[in-house]
Amino acid sequence: EYKASGEVTWQSPSNIALVKYWGKKENQIPANPSISFTLDNCQSTTTLKYSRIKEASKTSGFDFDFYFEGKAKQDFKPKIFKFFERIEKYCPYLREYKFEIHSENSFPHSSGIASSASGMSAIALCIMHLEKELYPGMEKDYFSKKSSFLARLGSGSASRSIDGGLVVWGEHKNIPGSSNEYAIPFPFEIHDIFKNYRDTILLVDKGEKQVSSTVGHDLMHGHPFAENRFAQAHENLDKLIPVLKHGDTTEFIKIVESEALTLHSMMMSSLPYFILMKPNTLEIINKIWSYRETTGIPVCFTLDAGANVHVLYPENHETKILEFINNELVVYCQNGHYICDQVGGGAKKL
Ligand code: PMV
Repeated sequence: EYKASGEVTWQSPSNIALVKYWGKKENQIPANPSISFTLDNCQSTTTLKYSRIKEASKTSGFDFDFYFEGKAKQDFKPKIFKFFERIEKYCPYLREYKFEIHSENSFPHSSGIASSASGMSAIALCIMHLEKELYPGMEKDYFSKKSSFLARLGSGSASRSIDGGLVVWGEHKNIPGSSNEYAIPFPFEIHDIFKNYRDTILLVDKGEKQVSSTVGHDLMHGHPFAENRFAQAHENLDKLIPVLKHGDTTEFIKIVESEALTLHSMMMSSLPYFILMKPNTLEIINKIWSYRETTGIPVCFTLDAGANVHVLYPENHETKILEFINNELVVYCQNGHYICDQVGGGAKKL
């Protein structure tokens, strides 16, 4: 009945939100729905080795070791411990196993790219593999929904890293199947132009995040603009439905850039307040705006809760945009560093 031991490896991507998740309730329930492009090159590869523990030690704590890029990492253990605590209710077999977790990222550790989405979704998928071994015959749909559900409990945005393409997390009245508990693939028609969109990530500041997302989400409690912001996210997601169907890049740009600036304006207007952009972030935004105006190429930016800039554009303009980036934007990147990515197909078992 019980699987004695085994191992599994999942590769799971990062994602970039178009409508942002910022603010949450108890139990990692989002204050508003969000939508993201799943990325392709920025990913975590995680191996979970598991072996069954003898009855006697069942009541002790979680038994696991964590290795990051081949080295035992103590400072990561509390995060995983907390994750195990949160998911134990839904994975009652966890204490019955001894685990070894090995993880690595395709992007440099100090790139300012958050690895929580790719890292947490990869661990969630590995745990679901074990669950599937214990309960053979599990439906594919259950597997991916519960993976997203568990990933959400690790890090909210990680719920959007299981499926590929465009992914929605959070209840929205006009999006059938949408849920606060897990993410789903965007269930409507998507114009070809958005199917292999490019995301070139300009690394403006590779340092530690100034504000952790936990602190950031908390700042939305009692924020004077919170309710309006949450309503706006619902409206922007609504507006995106026809935009994504018709390939309307003009409207797409308005929504996406406004979302990024609103995310930052929420942090500028909270108490305590933060400015997470750097001077170079603004230089890049202004350059993108004037380039778009002179060339008519539908390139735009989005931001996470940090200074790095994601440059989003259709595949057919790649050569031109990379030329623009190399000629005009690279000077604003730390050590001239940027990462080329694009929309990807979602997590894969290796
Ligand atoms: O998943 P978290 O709790 O680290 O939150 C991430 C929030 C943003 O990246 C800023 C926006 C988003 O929707 O991904």
